[in-house]
Amino acid sequence: MADKDDIREGKNFHPEIPHESENFFLKGSNSLDWGMQNRLARIFRPDTGRTVMLAFDHGYFQGPTTGLERIDLDIRPLAPFADVLMCTRGALRTSIPPSVAKPVVLRCSAGQSILTELSNELIAVDIEDAIRLGACAMAAQVYIGAEYEHKSIANVARLIDTGTRYGIPTLAVTGVGADMTRDERYFALATRICAEIGAHYVKSYYFEPGFENVAAACPVPIVIAGGKKLPEPDALEMAYKACDAGAAGVDMGRNIFQSDSPAAMIQAVGAVVHDNAKPGAAFEMYEDLKADLGDRQAAE
Ligand code: 5RP
Repeated sequence: MADKDDIREGKNFHPEIPHESENFFLKGSNSLDWGMQNRLARIFRPDTGRTVMLAFDHGYFQGPTTGLERIDLDIRPLAPFADVLMCTRGALRTSIPPSVAKPVVLRCSAGQSILTELSNELIAVDIEDAIRLGACAMAAQVYIGAEYEHKSIANVARLIDTGTRYGIPTLAVTGVGADMTRDERYFALATRICAEIGAHYVKSYYFEPGFENVAAACPVPIVIAGGKKLPEPDALEMAYKACDAGAAGVDMGRNIFQSDSPAAMIQAVGAVVHDNAKPGAAFEMYEDLKADLGDRQAAE
């Protein structure tokens, strides 16, 4: 222990070495405070600048979604392969042990169901609870062009303001109503609005043509949702094209947990996102891992 009697004069000041002041690796995040940047550096891998977020928050408005009937059984085994878990506080507290120790992006909006108007959300988690859970970011939907557009923007703005007080970033999710077009014009509008109100990163869908223009016009990172379940080769191709066009990774749910082999799929998605694996090679990896996992399950 430091002792007043044993104070020695410091010698190793290295005046010849200037203090390093590194630029933060993530687009649009250079001026953020230390806590914000540290949380973002736990979400996005500093060596690749990208992330594989595993989204399993679907139950907050659509109940026990296929593949998420038992989060403890379906999702927990996938956690080691994800960079980040995106879920509700209910799923986290009931079904994911704290020892899993993965960064969490907390779904903080709720208030509607698939039976009612999707855009009619509210902020349903207090900042104190997000802090208590150690959230690395908070997430809510912005529904541009929907009936409750104004309310959804106000929700995200509130999350940004409260999160900023405590160094917690906000992920703005560009929610799309059932009958809204998913094209360049729409997502350019939605993602840019999210960034301009101060979201630290934005979730969008992948679309063609023009995703690269939307990614370029959005001054913060974009991650893509997977959307409806696709055949595995198509989902891997979508992830590849999105990253190639400027996405900083995925926030993927159904294309992972509804896959024939979720553990193989999340690893194949990881190879695409972090190692730039080509879709064909990633699908081969998926098939090999699936066979291997199947063999192991059969042997148990
Ligand atoms: C639900 C969400 C989901 O997290 C998001 O849609 C990602 O899941 P998927 O890849 O299944 O689309 O935001 O509102």
